[in-house]
Amino acid sequence: METTHSIIFEDARKISALDDQSIDLVVTSPPYPMIEMWDEQFSELNPETGVQLEKGNYTGAFATMHAILDETWSELYRVMKEGAFACINIGDAVRTVNNRFKLFANHSRIQTRLCELGFDPMPLIIWRKQTNAPNKFMGSGMLPAGAYVTLEHEYILIFRKGSRRQFSTVEEKHNRMLSSFFWEERNCWFSDLWDFKGTRQEMNNRQLRGRSAAFPFILPFRLINMYSVFGDTILDPFLGTGTSAMAAMASGRNSIGYEIDSGFSEPTKKRIFENQHLLNNYNLERINSHLDFVRNYSSEKGVLKYTNSYFGFPVMTRQEKELKLTFVKAVEKKVDNCFRVSYFADQYIQSIDPGQLDLEKLV
Ligand SMILES: C[S@@+](CC[C@H](N)C(=O)[O-])C[C@H]1O[C@@H](n2cnc3c(N)ncnc32)[C@H](O)[C@@H]1O
Repeated sequence: METTHSIIFEDARKISALDDQSIDLVVTSPPYPMIEMWDEQFSELNPETGVQLEKGNYTGAFATMHAILDETWSELYRVMKEGAFACINIGDAVRTVNNRFKLFANHSRIQTRLCELGFDPMPLIIWRKQTNAPNKFMGSGMLPAGAYVTLEHEYILIFRKGSRRQFSTVEEKHNRMLSSFFWEERNCWFSDLWDFKGTRQEMNNRQLRGRSAAFPFILPFRLINMYSVFGDTILDPFLGTGTSAMAAMASGRNSIGYEIDSGFSEPTKKRIFENQHLLNNYNLERINSHLDFVRNYSSEKGVLKYTNSYFGFPVMTRQEKELKLTFVKAVEKKVDNCFRVSYFADQYIQSIDPGQLDLEKLV
């Protein structure tokens, strides 16, 4: 098995390299309107944004920034297949304008636009990003009435294009079964509140994260496993440091990323190559968590009813019987800005006791 991953250093307001209805899933996080770190980039993309910011007309600036993003949202509708999902991570912004403190509700503006384009909105996820920073509370301290609620969450907006995806052929049905996730993962991943405190961060180079506002690996990794199957093609129109591409590699999916800032080219490629040995961490962690779940469940409630035919361990439901996970063997450069990922053969993975699978064996 192999997957392919391309990075296109172009403006995603026109996704001209992609055909209509060619994408199975979109996972992305755009630059956040009205968050200062993105003012300059929005102003370069549309000088009117700079004019509005300069004039202190923040309502106008908010509108022009979103008009820039709208062009990409329209392109997504064109390139996505019928039944495909789009998951958009976005945070709101707060800013003081002419001495008045205001919220700029990016999530509702994007939600409205995607619905206008014809996407069906799905229940969304609140990603809680609690901080312990002592200065997190804004406003008048302990005195009423001028203190403000802290923004410690972002959103993952979820949309579907058209009706439910069809898995018609025997191969498609089988691949869907192979791509299933664990029962206990379903219970956690499909909760509307995500909290990543305490999650592994090895793959998130701090410096790069600061410059790029990268999301943690687990975010695209979960979404990809929730909303696509092996061999699908994932698009991230705002790729930044390549987190979605890496999550697609780890999940046995293909990917295409657009990024306007070619300054990310070298750091992103370096990040992918230098961290390839860590790409299997999350799937190894999934196995270990599942084995913990099995132990706890069996000691408290009794034996699980089904056996997974790939790993040979117990699973909760019939739908997990065929579940398998992919393990990256190597990431190679195919041509410039394009990578080929190979995976360990099923026989090799199955020759190791799942409880003994670790990174040492997989490098
Ligand atoms: C919030 S960051 C994405 C970070 C990414 N999720 C990661 O983990 O690194 C948004 C990215 O979109 C890029 N960008 C902004 N406007 C763009 C456009 N019109 N086309 C393509 N990329 C764009 C920015 O340069 C930035 O890298």
